[in-house]
Amino acid sequence: MSYILGIESSCDETACAIVKDGYEVLSSIVASQIAKHAVHGGVVPELAAREHLKGCKVVVETALKEANLTMEDIDAVAVTQGPGLMPALLVGINFAKGLAMGYNKPIIGVNHFLAHIYGAFLGDGKEDLENPDSYPILALVVSGGHSSLLLLERDGKATHLGWTIDDAAGEALDKGAKLLGLGYPGGPIMQKTGEGGDNKRFNFPRPLTGAAGKALSEEHKYNFSFSGIKTALLYQSKFLEESGEKIEGQLLQDIVASYQEAIVDVLSKKAIKAAKDFKAKTIVVAGGVACNKVLRERMAELTPKGVKLRIAKPVNCTDNAAMVAGIGYHHFMNKEFSELNFDAYARLPEISEVPFIK
Ligand code: KG4
Ligand code: ZN
Repeated sequence: MSYILGIESSCDETACAIVKDGYEVLSSIVASQIAKHAVHGGVVPELAAREHLKGCKVVVETALKEANLTMEDIDAVAVTQGPGLMPALLVGINFAKGLAMGYNKPIIGVNHFLAHIYGAFLGDGKEDLENPDSYPILALVVSGGHSSLLLLERDGKATHLGWTIDDAAGEALDKGAKLLGLGYPGGPIMQKTGEGGDNKRFNFPRPLTGAAGKALSEEHKYNFSFSGIKTALLYQSKFLEESGEKIEGQLLQDIVASYQEAIVDVLSKKAIKAAKDFKAKTIVVAGGVACNKVLRERMAELTPKGVKLRIAKPVNCTDNAAMVAGIGYHHFMNKEFSELNFDAYARLPEISEVPFIK
């Protein structure tokens, strides 16, 4: 039996969780800083770091208390090493190092991006991960920082098929909401505002899909691009305002629903196309944007018969430490520990394997 304590501080959530044997979440505490950043319209890195500084102790104590455990019971400390905001990462890492050193526990730096994928397997995912018939797995990772398609194979080999060449899907939703004066973070606000809206009223572009008569190059087959959608929204809203229309009520709902639809349409079609091309047996959707109701429903509609769809539970989609502790367990079992002087990384390194498939 092993208990891994995970710490997450890559962006604007200070989180700690304790996971038993890699799948059973005993406690998962997330202290959100959203209110602090919302007044600035986005995450301010230094502010995030200072909030983590205040929050780490509390989330760790609460997670231990909720799990009814003490540090003596913990087998290893896992912490997000990157990618993320450097000042924010450093706080969680330093706290984790202190904890590991003080209690003489091994420390494990984990990849936040891969942890998001693992988040879809927390709880009941062990059987699926261990079943050879689940492979290959096509993972769609959609968050504030990433929009990526990954292929995971039975031997643990991972191929990063595509990513965004500009903005991430969550970033496009956040920037869209900001542009319309709806607040931060944009994803959940856009989902709520778009409910009841006509998603066909405005035709936002679908970049890198081969729509609009432009042939899609091999290079961009599985890549995404979302900055053009945001620019189209800017021009559309300017046009409406100059025509004397106020963007509110039904018009606001329609414009938001159409904007969200363009993003969901691109994400779902590209993911399904990749799954078909690589004969995936499982499709995983993870990351903050995977909370989105429209995306979840669309993926369920489009997933071919015989392919299992695994979408992370909403609490495991947005940043949390359960996914960090969970993936940390697999590093622990593989005896992949970090040195106490390990550094953080801001950008996603090249990915060729995942620790949770062996
Ligand atoms: O995974 P996450 O918490 O942080 C990153 O690693 O980036 O993702 C945050 C992103 C934000 O862009 C937020 O707007 C988006 O996830 N998000 C949503 C929803 N909830 C959060 N996007 C669409 N619909 C939602 N319900
Ligand atoms: Zn994240």
